[in-house]
Amino acid sequence: MLRSTLLAASRSPRSRKLIEQLPPTRAIVNRFVAGETLVDGVSVTRDLVATGRRITLDHLGEDTSDATQAAATAEAYEKLLAALAESGLADRAEVSVKLSAVGQFLPQDGEKVALDNARRICEAAGAVGTTVTLDMEDHTTTDSTLGIARELRADFPWLGVVLQAYLHRTEADCAEFSGPGSRVRLCKGAYQEPASVAFQKKSEVDLAYVRCLKVLMAGEGYPMVASHDPRLIRIAGELAAANGRAADSFEYQMLYGIRPEEQERLIAEGNTMRVYLPYGNEWYGYFMRRLAERPANLTFFLRALATK
Ligand code: FDA
Repeated sequence: MLRSTLLAASRSPRSRKLIEQLPPTRAIVNRFVAGETLVDGVSVTRDLVATGRRITLDHLGEDTSDATQAAATAEAYEKLLAALAESGLADRAEVSVKLSAVGQFLPQDGEKVALDNARRICEAAGAVGTTVTLDMEDHTTTDSTLGIARELRADFPWLGVVLQAYLHRTEADCAEFSGPGSRVRLCKGAYQEPASVAFQKKSEVDLAYVRCLKVLMAGEGYPMVASHDPRLIRIAGELAAANGRAADSFEYQMLYGIRPEEQERLIAEGNTMRVYLPYGNEWYGYFMRRLAERPANLTFFLRALATK
């Protein structure tokens, strides 16, 4: 119930206006977001890389309804990739892109605009020797996003894609995307989805995650285990060992600001750990999904409000 309310609020312009204006919001947002500017994003990347972490940077934004804004987002990624290269970080940091931020929802030729903008970003990433992963949004976009991923992979075989274990379809998608070199970031899924397309109970989602992991770990691709769940992290390690995978043939991924000690433990054990690092001023939707994932985050937020 609480999760549904927060996820509904994450898409409400009225709630957005209200929450953005609350005095302690910024301090709490900073727990999950590197800062507002490219300089902030690169600076936090440098600090995290120094601790042995790898990074995937997200220039925050989603649901763009304006072609100029979509092109500006692609340009922001090009600048980011150039800055990573200049700072000597491109071998440790890649980028994550939401297709809705580069035009997927535009009424006129949205998919084509998103494909062209994503292609620009892939070209810029390839030029500096790093990679791109396409984020996955709500289920109405899955076919479109996977279609664009298939097209881009013809030219950029290293392009990664996110799959969400909570969708009924995902085990089959994992099978399709588990071929040689295929980079798949497996997460549970963060959106409000109907029972017709997605598992609703945590226990069902967790079981689906394990089924998907089995497919990816047994495949020939590069699984990216995106979860903070201790049980799933342990199972991922066991499945990697059972499939004879070397430590450099898969990686763990977590969101910036969540379970940093666990990130360090996994690095100390010789694993690759990549942190998803968002920056920019369009933080509202991302922040609300983080509140929805964990009631304790909401309590913390409300307590901060009450003490203001
Ligand atoms: P779960 O939610 O069960 O949490 C397990 C434990 O992790 C909790 O008990 C708590 O200790 C900790 N934890 C989890 N979330 C927390 C939070 N917000 N604050 C503090 N602690 C928390 N989703 C999506 O739909 N599309 C996408 O493209 C992506 N991309 C993505 C990239 C990466 C690198 C990650 C790690 C995650 C995503 N996600 C995502 C989000 C994902 O779908 C999911 O909502 C969150 O990762 C939470 O699920 P967990 O697997 O961590 O398990």
